[in-house]
Amino acid sequence: MAHLQAFSVAWYISYVTVLMLLHSPSSKATGFSLKLIPLFSPESPLYPGNLTQFERIHKIFEISKARANYLASMSKPDAFLNPEDIYLRVHEKNYFYTVDVLFGTPSKSEFLLFDTGSYLIWTQCLPCVNCFNQSAPIFNPNASSTYKRIPCDDPICRRPPFRCENGQCVHRINYAGGASASGLVSTETFTFPLKNKLVCVPGVIFGCSNDNRDFSFDGNIAGILGFSVSPFSLLGQLKSTAQGLFSYCLVYAYREMEATSILRFGKDANIQRKDMKTIRMFVDRSSHYYLSLQDISVADHRIGFAPGTFALRRNGTGGCMIDTGAIATFIQRGPYEVVMRHFDEHFTSFGRQRMHNASEDWEYCYRYDSRFRAYASMTFHFDRADFKVEPTYMYFIFQNEGYFCVAISFSDRNSVVGAWQQQDTRFVYDLNTGTIRFAPENCANDHFL
Ligand SMILES: *[C@@H]1O[C@H](CO)[C@@H](O)[C@H](O)[C@H]1NC(C)=O
Ligand SMILES: *[C@@H]1O[C@H](CO)[C@@H](O)[C@H](O)[C@H]1NC(C)=O
Ligand SMILES: *[C@@H]1O[C@H](CO)[C@@H](O)[C@H](O)[C@H]1NC(C)=O
Ligand SMILES: *[C@@H]1O[C@H](CO)[C@@H](O)[C@H](O)[C@H]1NC(C)=O
Ligand SMILES: *[C@@H]1O[C@H](CO)[C@@H](O)[C@H](O)[C@H]1NC(C)=O
Repeated sequence: MAHLQAFSVAWYISYVTVLMLLHSPSSKATGFSLKLIPLFSPESPLYPGNLTQFERIHKIFEISKARANYLASMSKPDAFLNPEDIYLRVHEKNYFYTVDVLFGTPSKSEFLLFDTGSYLIWTQCLPCVNCFNQSAPIFNPNASSTYKRIPCDDPICRRPPFRCENGQCVHRINYAGGASASGLVSTETFTFPLKNKLVCVPGVIFGCSNDNRDFSFDGNIAGILGFSVSPFSLLGQLKSTAQGLFSYCLVYAYREMEATSILRFGKDANIQRKDMKTIRMFVDRSSHYYLSLQDISVADHRIGFAPGTFALRRNGTGGCMIDTGAIATFIQRGPYEVVMRHFDEHFTSFGRQRMHNASEDWEYCYRYDSRFRAYASMTFHFDRADFKVEPTYMYFIFQNEGYFCVAISFSDRNSVVGAWQQQDTRFVYDLNTGTIRFAPENCANDHFL
């Protein structure tokens, strides 16, 4: 009996040692980073070529509009009748950021669409039943020594979107517009850059998708990196490493339309500075981040919206989200008219003429003059702190066409603080405390150390 006990203790110790060895890269790692590659970077598989400023801003509008429509559809009370359905049309036109993820052993680089709204990481896998074209080789599980399938009897396999089918644990994700991805639920080692080294994280659950239908991807997209707060997204799975913390600082696009930004996790994201302000944040069931917006100022003039104007209502209308998928900022219809009237009064008072038909995309545009300096700022008054958006980050300037537009559009359901207005600000999301900290920063100086 004693012998048996000693044996099991010894076995236990060696088992733990093996586990520790297997997991040592991740257990030592206290953070990691990902590079967010914007659409306009030649590094991006979505790179549309060398567009003019006018064409780029039109693209920004299209992406923003698609994102705002998606966010609106997700906020509807019936959006989750079928938890396996995602209501996003996965057209590459809807995405601005891609990430280059290293996975497998030896590791292979794959470009994935960065999707804050979806909950699974998946990539195309051999052998294909249906695969969309991708220019890099499709991931071959046989060629990776760390690839493993999740067996059917693993409790994970009972949780949607996973299920057991013909003795195999499979996933199936349906997207709006009819696209679907399915294949074997698997684990693999992911490798992330951290400062001057690489961090290996073994056992990341992902969909090894070999039946992918009706995607319009074309180029070098290999799949989607789900970045919602659900258990199988990147953030959910790397809980111990990410510690519920992530952070970004978006590089100002007019200075460098092509510059990549860095998404930091865990200790790497735990940036504390004296000048940081803190606001409350909560995550809804569709993993979108809501802020408690009280009021708005234009050019330091406080509008004085009635309390509750921006509150999230029971039917999913209202509310103010913060999002990087939408580039422009959106304000819900009624308040939008009021805010824009304030912009209009401001520019009229400085003799700027509104050009009603200048842009098909933006409603409030004015004649551009290189000598004009009196651009208005806008301030979001949140429950505990104000977020002032300096004029640099409030407008789209069409120098050649001779006008500029306020980078705000309207939405029928919700308000969204978009990426354009978030530029050159450090944001730290802390899911443990339900807060976001922020402070101005020159994001061009943010590098992998
Ligand atoms: C893109 O076009 C602009 C102006 O047409 C030019 O100055 C710039 O060098 C081009 N960039 C690339 C990467 O081709
Ligand atoms: C991987 O190996 C299995 C078993 O040897 C084989 O059936 C399968 O065809 C291989 N797949 C590829 C893509 O080579
Ligand atoms: C994939 O690429 C091949 C060769 O370039 C082409 O013939 C085929 O039509 C493409 N398939 C799809 C679905 O676009
Ligand atoms: C949602 O509820 C608000 C009042 O709480 C109402 O004014 C609005 O019309 C409703 N909207 C929809 C789309 O149901
Ligand atoms: C803008 O264009 C529309 C039709 O395209 C026209 O009806 C309207 O009068 C124009 N407005 C101005 C201010 O030019």
